[in-house]
Amino acid sequence: MRMSVIGCGYLGAVHAAAMASIGHDVIGIDVDEAKVAMLQRGDAPFFEPQLGELLRQGIDAGRLRFTSRMADAGGADVHFLAVGTPQVQGGHAADLRYVDAAVDALLPHLRPGDVLAGKSTVPVGTAAAIARRIDPTGATVVWNPEFLREGWAVHDTLTPDRIVVGVPDTTDGAAAVETIRASYSSAIDAGTPFLVTDLATAELVKGAANAFLATKISFINAMAEIADAAGADVTLLADALGHDTRIGRRYLGSGIGFGGGCLPKDIRAFAARAEELGRGESVVFLREVDAINLRRRDRAVQLVIDALDGRVFGRRIAVLGAAFKPFSDDIRDSPALDVAVRLRGLGADVIVTDPAAIDNAAAVHPQLGYARDRDDALRDADAVVVVTEWDEYRRDLSPAHAGGLVRNRIIIDGRNCLDAAAWRAAGWNYRGMGRR
Ligand code: UGA
Repeated sequence: MRMSVIGCGYLGAVHAAAMASIGHDVIGIDVDEAKVAMLQRGDAPFFEPQLGELLRQGIDAGRLRFTSRMADAGGADVHFLAVGTPQVQGGHAADLRYVDAAVDALLPHLRPGDVLAGKSTVPVGTAAAIARRIDPTGATVVWNPEFLREGWAVHDTLTPDRIVVGVPDTTDGAAAVETIRASYSSAIDAGTPFLVTDLATAELVKGAANAFLATKISFINAMAEIADAAGADVTLLADALGHDTRIGRRYLGSGIGFGGGCLPKDIRAFAARAEELGRGESVVFLREVDAINLRRRDRAVQLVIDALDGRVFGRRIAVLGAAFKPFSDDIRDSPALDVAVRLRGLGADVIVTDPAAIDNAAAVHPQLGYARDRDDALRDADAVVVVTEWDEYRRDLSPAHAGGLVRNRIIIDGRNCLDAAAWRAAGWNYRGMGRR
């Protein structure tokens, strides 16, 4: 099939490369010329395992190209809309300006029978509004939310755990289902569940999924607060809860909480839209989810202050991690970086290290010190804070080796990812978050 993918950020670039890899003829379109040039060279504009390889394969096979000219979308059977929907400045709602601009630019190139498949995370009701706008062209709007995780984006796109498509209740809608089914035929043939809904339900599925995941993380972090007060261990609690298959262990990782370009802004936009619909009370709990999450960052900073007996000013603190999670160079709303910035604000001499995110972090927070080499960051540290659970810290860093580099054997485990007993046995003052 011929496809266009409009917006080549995380979602769009990966989607375009993945669709080409399963045999479709794909054009990726973005207004950012520099990004287009990079993608056209086969270079991933961000850290994402397998993406570069997939891009180069698609380009070499002649099935994938990138452009900034929207006119080149003309002739595609399906247009995937994958632009960003950030949080509005000064509010909690989603900013739809990129969605609106993309639809405006695409409008003159749509033909009767074309399918416009929205993938961006939008407030419920957006698809219906787009459908009204494009109605005169004879094209059909469907909503096809994406559930990929950064760091696993290629895997999640090629082997999703479900495909959801919301369609209008018309004959055009039925035809559009077949177009989407054909787009994903390899995954569907391999047994991926294919769920057809109305437009509003498909839009809600995405917001609800992220709200649920955020709630699960904040739930365990609320338990970490209780565990701290009660002298219990939240990681053992999570293990025990997780064996109940109705609960499950995934997304019960406690520590400094969630960040990134999706969960924080999506739960706020979801609540803002619920308010507009007169149902704010239905999601009041999301405010608590947000508040619990943000408190974790305060808690991590407090643990450092306590471990240093209140004397943080001028002390050297090694911060292991800057990305909002491992296997990513993304620092958007990164709890890791937030902790580093707060410690710096208290006058600490902060040295941040990260296997992938240093350049991004340094561009936004030049006031922090950086070390590309983990051991350089550890050298002479008065305290160590682990804030992103990269394998380099979680698995590969031995307490004895680290102990030979630092000035004080103090470690704050902001991700509850270290073997507390092993660190203590090596003479470290180990503090987790909600761990005895
Ligand atoms: C999230 C969702 O998981 C995807 O399904 C969704 O498609 C995506 O948002 C999106 O809306 O585009 P992502 O932002 O890549 O994906 O990150 P996650 O892997 O979900 O992690 C989010 C944050 O939660 C990270 O800061 C991570 O460290 C934190 N987290 C995750 C925890 O604190 N505990 C956990 O147990 C799991």
